Amino acid sequence: MKAVVLVGGFGTRLRPLTVTTPKQMLPVVDRPMIEYVVSTLKRAGVSEVVLALGYKEDLFRAAYPDAECGGVSLSYAVEPEPLDTAGAVRFAADAAGLDEPFIVVNGDVLTDFDIGSLWDRHHALGAMATIALTRVEDPSRFGVVPTDAEGRVLGFIEKPSRDEAPTDWINAGIYVLEPEILERIASGRRVSIEREVFPEIVAERGLWAVHSDAYWIDIGTPATYMHAQLDLIDGVRGAALPAESPEASVDADAEVERSVVMAAATVAGGAVVRDSIIMGGAVIAADALVDGSIVGPRARVGEGAKITGMSILGDGQNVGAGQLVDGLKIPMSD
Ligand code: GTP
Repeated sequence: MKAVVLVGGFGTRLRPLTVTTPKQMLPVVDRPMIEYVVSTLKRAGVSEVVLALGYKEDLFRAAYPDAECGGVSLSYAVEPEPLDTAGAVRFAADAAGLDEPFIVVNGDVLTDFDIGSLWDRHHALGAMATIALTRVEDPSRFGVVPTDAEGRVLGFIEKPSRDEAPTDWINAGIYVLEPEILERIASGRRVSIEREVFPEIVAERGLWAVHSDAYWIDIGTPATYMHAQLDLIDGVRGAALPAESPEASVDADAEVERSVVMAAATVAGGAVVRDSIIMGGAVIAADALVDGSIVGPRARVGEGAKITGMSILGDGQNVGAGQLVDGLKIPMSD
């Protein structure tokens, strides 16, 4: 089985963290996000992954110079300009010469969904495309997908208002596609799979879906990037991962509660870190408070400073002693 993984987006919602690092290379507890995605694919039987790259593609190549990730071989398809979700699939499939059914996943989805069963269902149905659906409380920031009782997709409504959503089942960003689909994606221009390609296939009654309540999270926003990591250390997805890296240095008089502290980070005595992510090499000085926030790589929180309310400090940022940062991104961005 072969898969295309979409990792070329700008990740604007995760700025300022994505100013220096593309979203899928951001660490999730102890390793880059992309490695979780590739290992989920490997468990389903995928042996080759084509990374559909754009923004900061060099950082992926540098991380996996042998074109291999966790026992899965990688190939790189670098778009000359962003082609959007379907354009990127076409470009990557052409570059890799895919001419059999293949899997596509969004590179920012962490899930325990059984991709092998999606593959089997797709083949049993003889579908043109089969997509995974997951259920969320508020479907308004997703593609909402009503189906009939057999799972045939009846519509594809991108980001409806909360009142207008006909169901809470949404596109989980995991698909099996027949190669014929590629012919209907224009080459060399932006094409959205959610807005253009899927609605067209729905009109021809060729799109099918598999519903699943398995763990699923799209870690494209600061809140979900944090949530996914706290789930991993809370043991929500099986054995809990260690919250503190063995290469972090946490003073015995610091209070660290339900937080991830990554390698080479330092938390000094008297500091309190709660429900937060402290990234590699960050420094939390004495008596500082970090609550419900993300301190980016190599950032520094001065003595007695308070970082609260889903604040995010970007790579190497410095918050002076005693300062209060509540609900802000530093540096500020649009
Ligand atoms: P935001 O800017 O925060 O919306 O993030 P994003 O740029 O990653 O967009 P979004 O989360 O909607 O994208 C879904 C998936 O498709 C992510 O894994 C992106 O990396 C990927 N993606 C989005 N646009 C492109 C593109 O033009 N080319 C490629 N190769 N991947 C893309």
